[in-house]
Amino acid sequence: METKRMRNRLTVYHIKGGTGKTRIALNIALTLDCGIITNDEYSIVSRVISSSKCRILAQHDDFPRYPAKIPLVYDLGGKIDKRVGIAIEESRYVIVPILPYKEDIQTGLDFITEIQAINSKIIIVVNKTKPKQFDNIRKVLKGYYPYFPVFELKSSTAMSRMIWEKKSIREITNTNKLFRHHYQKLNQQFDQLINYIQTHDFEWPGEFKQSTLIMRDMHGLHALKKGNKNE
Ligand SMILES: Nc1ncnc2c1ncn2[C@@H]1O[C@H](COP(=O)(O)OP(=O)(O)O)[C@@H](O)[C@H]1O
Ligand SMILES: [Mg+2]
Repeated sequence: METKRMRNRLTVYHIKGGTGKTRIALNIALTLDCGIITNDEYSIVSRVISSSKCRILAQHDDFPRYPAKIPLVYDLGGKIDKRVGIAIEESRYVIVPILPYKEDIQTGLDFITEIQAINSKIIIVVNKTKPKQFDNIRKVLKGYYPYFPVFELKSSTAMSRMIWEKKSIREITNTNKLFRHHYQKLNQQFDQLINYIQTHDFEWPGEFKQSTLIMRDMHGLHALKKGNKNE
């Protein structure tokens, strides 16, 4: 139901692991300065993003409710359970990362059909592409789902560098000439995706940029406070 959608909530979701959900969610969170919530108990998000801005749900935790003002990215895996259902339902967009291989595309297509029943604002991201792979895959995807935007993220070591350096792809790319040379393409691809999220259909970015709200209940304390960004 459209009325439940929250404009500064975004879900990155795929039933399968290894499609790049966490990297994509992290880069969006780092770039747009927002919180991140995951249902992966072994997630690395807390090693990258300050603990005040991320929350790892334990197996039996309920879906956490935060004030609508707080911009959040949900990084979710596993089958569509109650929590995943709520996240998808309230999100302005659901990003589905798929890998550029035949079986993964097939699984992705079936999976999108399921998500679509809950929220039809789907953005498909073909992740870890090698040169010249994308155009064909895009055509195939558009053949099934002409109305969903399809973005490409190439295979790049910047994705792991982001984890170690705790910096967005944009920051890493702008570090020095060498990185600018190596990571420019991925950076542009991410810019296109983020730009779409920010400009399409609703006014997410303003909310994000101005937000100084920080989540403080990573350890299950459901308390939220306005705070300063350095904490
Ligand atoms: N565009 C990319 N280029 C290279 N490696 C990538 C890319 N996206 C993800 N990876 C790698 O793939 C693995 C899975 O990524 P991850 O974000 O943890 O996926 P998920 O959260 O879906 O399980 C990680 O080792 C990550 O570094
Ligand atoms: Mg993950």
